Amino acid sequence: MEREGNFQRVPKDLDAQVAEYQVFVIMAEVPKIAAEAVLAKSEPMPEGSEVVRGYDFNEGVNYHKLFESMVTTGFQATSVGRAIQEINKMIDCKFQDIPESKKPDINLNPSGRELTNCTIFLSYTSNLISAGTREAIRYLVQHNMVDCIVSTAGGIEEDFIKCLAPTYLGDFSLSGRTLRSKGINRIGNLLVPNSNYCLFEDWLMPILDNMLHEQKETGTLWTPSKMIARLGKEIDNPESVYYWAYKNNIPVLCPALTDGSIGDMIYFHSYQKPGLVVDIVDDIRMMNSQAVHAVNSGMIILGGGLVKHHTCNANLMRNGADFSVFVNTANEFDGSDSGARPDEAISWGKIKASATPVKVYGEASVIFPILLAESFAGREKEFKDFYAKRK
Ligand SMILES: NC(=O)c1ccc[n+]([C@@H]2O[C@H](COP(=O)([O-])OP(=O)(O)OC[C@H]3O[C@@H](n4cnc5c(N)ncnc54)[C@H](O)[C@@H]3O)[C@@H](O)[C@H]2O)c1
Repeated sequence: MEREGNFQRVPKDLDAQVAEYQVFVIMAEVPKIAAEAVLAKSEPMPEGSEVVRGYDFNEGVNYHKLFESMVTTGFQATSVGRAIQEINKMIDCKFQDIPESKKPDINLNPSGRELTNCTIFLSYTSNLISAGTREAIRYLVQHNMVDCIVSTAGGIEEDFIKCLAPTYLGDFSLSGRTLRSKGINRIGNLLVPNSNYCLFEDWLMPILDNMLHEQKETGTLWTPSKMIARLGKEIDNPESVYYWAYKNNIPVLCPALTDGSIGDMIYFHSYQKPGLVVDIVDDIRMMNSQAVHAVNSGMIILGGGLVKHHTCNANLMRNGADFSVFVNTANEFDGSDSGARPDEAISWGKIKASATPVKVYGEASVIFPILLAESFAGREKEFKDFYAKRK
């Protein structure tokens, strides 16, 4: 190879090869299939299509604006944003006057609760009362913002137990064997000393005695909802969800009331003083009546299982809820009711076909306070004015 100054001279035959290659590159076209696939033409987006845009922290830390921006952020943030809108629609509907044509002559609600233009159902799994979500739920019930509650046994008893002794923060990884040897029970990363349940027994047993006495003497037909209202009265503690439910005459439905510590106590009581009857038939009438006689209805369902189905099924009795928000971690691939999307409930007539239901895939202890802050809690004054006007 010859050198010219600092350059090497490329042999002639190599020059020719390079020239030939360049011609090949210039002449060849981008393969049609690839060009068509990558550069496929778009139709214009439908008018009103929303643009994806998240929160700009240059605006400072403004939680209201942050949560407001979620609806255009995408993924579950959009579902949270839509859930906020759906709950606000329930509240707007509640504040409207009941149309004359739909005003009943007499109050047909067996609970005696006064009708509004939208009956709001709040349903939640037991663990949410074990968790600090209890305080958010208590707020709603204290301010008379919801009309009917559905939970499971743990969701009832844990509220009363917390009035007797606290639940503590622990860790998901704490050893069951070690905890058992110390008499401490674990719910996720929460810890409940077994002594709490002993306190609960001491508190509950005399109430069960009195309930049995009233059943025998005055013929009281106890139902889970009547029993929960009675416990709410007895606890007489404003920290309790069910104290406020009792005060505000909000029916609390729990058809599986025996599947928890309450059931253990009822079991022990049935040996000590047999005869107490708790009837679920009267309560299914109570539950379904909340939906049947509602002018409009909204469902906020945290978690799945019984609480979700019981609420949706009651709304079937009115040919579907008008507004719905589901918050849960369950998926639909296993065919579970817990994981079923609102669309499945539409197929059953549990949600109206014309409704705009929202499912948020997420853990309720995180999601629910956000929903609450951007709806009920932000509108507390409107609720106060609404009830003041009705007095
Ligand atoms: N503290 C307790 O959890 C407790 C205490 C005593 C008894 N129990 C009993 O255990 C039984 C089962 O409880 P359950 O029916 O209330 O519900 P669950 O705990 O079985 O949950 C049902 C479904 O709801 C969803 N879910 C639960 N927690 C969630 C969360 N934090 N965020 C989002 N989604 C969530 C999940 O998909 C779950 O599979 C009931 O009979 C109850 O009385 C529970």
